Amino acid sequence: MRTFLTRSIAAVSAVALLTLSAACSNEREGATGATTGGSTSAAKGFPADSLIGVALPSKTSENWVLAGDLFTDGLKAAGFKSDVQYAGASTTVADQQAQISAMVTKGAKVIVIGATDAAQLSTQVAQAKQSGATVIAYDRLITNTPDVDYYIAFDNFKVGQLQGQALLDGMKAKKATGPWTIELFSGSPDDNNAGVFFNGAMDVLKPLIDKGEVVVGSGQQDVKQTAIQGWKAEGAQQRMDSLLTSTYDSGKTLDGVLSPNDTLARAIITSVKGAGKPIPIVTGQDSEVESVKSIVAGEQYSTINKDTRELVAETVNMVKALQGGGAPEINDTKSYDNGAKVVPAYLLPPIIVTKDNAAEAYANDPKLSPLTK
Ligand code: BGC
Repeated sequence: MRTFLTRSIAAVSAVALLTLSAACSNEREGATGATTGGSTSAAKGFPADSLIGVALPSKTSENWVLAGDLFTDGLKAAGFKSDVQYAGASTTVADQQAQISAMVTKGAKVIVIGATDAAQLSTQVAQAKQSGATVIAYDRLITNTPDVDYYIAFDNFKVGQLQGQALLDGMKAKKATGPWTIELFSGSPDDNNAGVFFNGAMDVLKPLIDKGEVVVGSGQQDVKQTAIQGWKAEGAQQRMDSLLTSTYDSGKTLDGVLSPNDTLARAIITSVKGAGKPIPIVTGQDSEVESVKSIVAGEQYSTINKDTRELVAETVNMVKALQGGGAPEINDTKSYDNGAKVVPAYLLPPIIVTKDNAAEAYANDPKLSPLTK
């Protein structure tokens, strides 16, 4: 089996995405990859009731809303004080920068950051490191700085691969033989994940595009052409409206749309319905309530289950390990080169969900499980 690294590099070169995602997956020989040594080692232990800062981006999807509450409760249950903040809706970068600086001033021992813009936090994380705090990048990598100690996320490249495969499976189930016509969407260019999701999906789709079995109707297959700034639903709806007018007005069939998350998937479906066209196979991510309902109703085809409860619980475990002076558990030391170092990571496995396995996938989720009955 090829490694995560090899697959990532192949996908990157195949679709020439280096500009968007400088930080996705290149191994840098000799870079700090261990849990100790260099600027990675920050674990000297600290008092059990210390302040832990959590700086989250704006609430662009349900997972962020959930994460805030889970961090507040989980850190309290573990005996810590917490300061959980969200960037606002518009001045997101400045908000988050100010929030992180304030956490440093208040003496936070660990600062957990879901970056609103991956490349705009180097000054703040440098301040955090100088104060002796440990910096954990949560869900989204922070790029171009040596001052990030750990990264915790679901395996983003795998998310993209699962999305690409679901798109193919869904289209094949509807129409056994190709060529299938698709459109591609990707997330916000300032979120490092957006390029990694796209690379993962293209790892599956590009070979078929090259063979002509899958056709990108509009021809827009460069990540820059497919990006939706700020992960905004209205941006996705507008782009889909224009694609329908430019490419599908004369009756050409659109078989599938690669959507990187549920918010954008629903916006794409709204656009297609508004144009009076049949709903194509549309992928997603996050298991948002409205998308799970849509999947069960047979509209959106798939989503990804990245259980926020697990991700937050594992992050709190990292904080506990640091508090005790130990090293947090790491299971990946090569995939996330942020441009300044390879950030030691703990990656959780994402799960693809369609109508077929929804009941099973959400069986232990009291909020989603009733929707599948
Ligand atoms: C997260 C996704 C989410 C997106 C928009 C990404 O960084 O990994 O789960 O859908 O941000 O909020």
